[in-house]
Amino acid sequence: MAGEKPSVELCKGINGLDKVVLREVRGSSAEVYLFGGHVTSWKNEHGEELLFVSSKAIFKPPKAIRGGIPICFPQFSSHGNLEQHGFARNKFWSIDTNPPQLPSNSLIKTFVDLILKPTDDDFKIWPHSYEFRLRVALTPGGDLMLTSRIRNTNSDGKPFSFTFAYHTYFLVSDISEVRVEGLETLDYLDNLKERERFTEQGDAITFESEVDKIYLSTPTKIAIIDHEKKRTFVLRKDGLPDAVVWNPWDRKAKAMPDFGDDDYKHMLSVEAAAIEKPIILKPGEEWKGRIELSAVPSSYCSGQLDPQKVLQG
Ligand code: BG6
Repeated sequence: MAGEKPSVELCKGINGLDKVVLREVRGSSAEVYLFGGHVTSWKNEHGEELLFVSSKAIFKPPKAIRGGIPICFPQFSSHGNLEQHGFARNKFWSIDTNPPQLPSNSLIKTFVDLILKPTDDDFKIWPHSYEFRLRVALTPGGDLMLTSRIRNTNSDGKPFSFTFAYHTYFLVSDISEVRVEGLETLDYLDNLKERERFTEQGDAITFESEVDKIYLSTPTKIAIIDHEKKRTFVLRKDGLPDAVVWNPWDRKAKAMPDFGDDDYKHMLSVEAAAIEKPIILKPGEEWKGRIELSAVPSSYCSGQLDPQKVLQG
């Protein structure tokens, strides 16, 4: 429902977990759980959901929520000694009431700032001091923007390194009717083949079986075209050179307790990430990584990837 003013409201979500609801005047909205700093909903001005969250998702900490946009930090997947995808998605974040200024579009009024800092116990798992600030913003036109700022606050002079991903689960009508443009001809590491390096063919990517690939040095715009829904998601990213494309397909779907057997048909993860070259921060240094998601009616065909034109046209 369109309201008169944009609003940002802290309320209770599933299982009494705190969540923040962002609403824009034309009716778009987004929801963020403080548990995980996890976006679980993004709706357009018609109230249509754009992100996939499994109906079997378990909203019980410390298990990460299945769907939406989990934050993978300080480790992507099993690329290191930490738990799968790091710990940020399993922690309770706080609302950052006084964030350092972030240069941003002055038209954006609807946002929330979250912060994650380590506790004494966390040091045992990852012996570094950091401040992770996450801004989740909704533009008047309904685009969703996530900005992460990670600062090394170590007082022992030590640098740290991390890998990162916005593990976005896009909601699609039928995975076999989906095409991804922007990753053609790029090199990727195939997670299903011990991360061996391959080169993608020239055609847009389509789906007919399990896929789990890390595309390297990707362009800043990727389009996810849902033919059946006649909708295109445009993912723009900054500071995040890699892009993971993941769909578990039927066999792996059945093995995941918090994922329905047929859920794989209705989701596609396209994850803006920094994986191949870990980010290294010295004490006092800050890294920034940003995504902007738009959902537009599909008005262009294969080979015409120019989301800028689509957005303006
Ligand atoms: C993807 C990985 O990013 O996340 C996959 O590339 C992994 O290998 C998937 O299976 C889901 O991970 P999780 O920990 O949320 O089940």
